[in-house]
Amino acid sequence: MTDKIQDLLHRVEAFAPRTAAEIEEFRIRILGRKGELNALMEEFKSVAPELKRELGQQINHLKSAALERINALKGELEERQSASAASVGDMTRPGSAGQSGSRHPISLVKNQIVEIFSRLGYTVAEGPEIEDDWHVFSALNFPPEHPARDMQDTFFIGKNPDVLLRTHTSSIQVRTMEHQRPPIRVICPGRVFRNEAISYRAHCIFHQIEGLYIDRNVSFADMKQSILYFAKELFGESSTIRMRPSYFPFTEPSAEVDVSCNLCGGKGCNVCKGTGWLEIMGCGMVDPNVLEANGIDSKEYSGFAFGMGVERIAMLKYGVKDLRLYFENDVRFLHQFDSAL
Ligand code: DAH
Repeated sequence: MTDKIQDLLHRVEAFAPRTAAEIEEFRIRILGRKGELNALMEEFKSVAPELKRELGQQINHLKSAALERINALKGELEERQSASAASVGDMTRPGSAGQSGSRHPISLVKNQIVEIFSRLGYTVAEGPEIEDDWHVFSALNFPPEHPARDMQDTFFIGKNPDVLLRTHTSSIQVRTMEHQRPPIRVICPGRVFRNEAISYRAHCIFHQIEGLYIDRNVSFADMKQSILYFAKELFGESSTIRMRPSYFPFTEPSAEVDVSCNLCGGKGCNVCKGTGWLEIMGCGMVDPNVLEANGIDSKEYSGFAFGMGVERIAMLKYGVKDLRLYFENDVRFLHQFDSAL
């Protein structure tokens, strides 16, 4: 009988349950009414009187050891469960949705413009923001005394007048012509810098997108159709354009492009200042001087170029009245574009 008691004691000590149900099952098997301990008590009744004392003590010890072990195991299990519940959190609480980021409206509009022109076969070209006089002015036929070279417009870096921040993305035209022969069809997005006072309609840093198309027999009509296609894709099928004569040193003839106001449908409203038209870009036939300055034979090739301000297009497209909002990055402003394309 001693062996039986010792065996049970060992099993009690080695018992390693994983669940409360396992503990309960074990308890019933050992301490229950029909359990192993009671069976031992039954057997105890018929042992020889001289052994009763010794065996009685052993059984009592077994009983209290079993009780103690079961209670300790229960406590341990409860502790483990509440610790893991705390780390997971209260699974019955309502969830809180995490906020995801959204694209900046300038990026949205830039991507859209690039995408429209890529459908016409244009590829993206880029250039440096820190430039020299040649790429920003001289190669683009700016006369030496042109006011855009003036300190008032251009940010120069240090004392060297040949190291400056580009004032327009037209510099990428020059860089493209340097290492590419016609046919050339590029769309050039980029950040530009001008020494302007910051207001609701101007900033010293903004974004432009330049386009350049050079091939044999490229005409003004090709330019007009390309820009009309672009305007309809960006502002809607019912949009129309008009061109007004203008001047840029790097194009001849040059024009300013207006798109019909998409808010009032051309009737006149406060956004188009009653005119029914919104100015969206400058354009023109690439001046032969520019082609020649960049080693392209102007008798064989012709081309057109255009340039637009991304902030301005985004303002017109989304009805944003203050350009500074694009730079402040107030999330209340940015989140309004969450669902935009
Ligand atoms: N570079 C001009 C600007 O910054 C925009 C522009 C006008 C670009 C006419 C062109 C163009 O390529 O043909 O105001």
